[in-house]
Amino acid sequence: MRGIKNVEIHATDISNEFLEFAQKAHYPATAADDMSAEEKTFFDVSGGQLCPVASVRSAVTFLPPCSFVDSVLTESYDVVFVSNALTYVTPAEQATAIANISHYNMRYLVLTAFHQQTIKPDLMANGYEAVPDNLEEIHNSWGDRIAKDAPLDHSWMLPPFSKIQDYEYKYCALFRKLR
Ligand SMILES: C[S@@+](CC[C@H](N)C(=O)[O-])C[C@H]1O[C@@H](n2cnc3c(N)ncnc32)[C@H](O)[C@@H]1O
Repeated sequence: MRGIKNVEIHATDISNEFLEFAQKAHYPATAADDMSAEEKTFFDVSGGQLCPVASVRSAVTFLPPCSFVDSVLTESYDVVFVSNALTYVTPAEQATAIANISHYNMRYLVLTAFHQQTIKPDLMANGYEAVPDNLEEIHNSWGDRIAKDAPLDHSWMLPPFSKIQDYEYKYCALFRKLR
């Protein structure tokens, strides 16, 4: 965690319906079936449903629905996650989003699923570098979403890890802000 204490989390999504589902935070108990033992410690099972533990629930404040592409957030954040959502916007919007996020993100940016072909220039233009720690292990934990015939532009499938040009960015999820 590099000295970062995970005490306060602000969460949002462009879809109000999705936010309401996240706020309710009730999932089928079977969702735990393929979680690691450590992941399971973040959930309670009650009435046949899985629910995040109270300490996690109380750490999260849900913001009104907004788009990460152009929303102006007034707080600043040590860590920003854009989780499985950059592939819902175009490559040009990805570039705009990363420039926008860099205004309120102070240290680390965690991106899962993005436009691989343009991620390096998008990040470098805004003062980010890749953090290669556990790069391959993190990518491989995508599990059944990794497929040999995944297209090089984006889809829900991801190509297997390989040391192609700029793999340190294309296969990375963790980025650090340098300025
Ligand atoms: C596959 S879901 C991922 C949800 C969640 N972030 C996660 O990782 O489990 C993709 C989400 O991206 C959201 N999304 C798409 N475009 C967005 C945008 N421009 N700003 C914020 N959220 C967006 C969609 O509404 C959808 O809920």
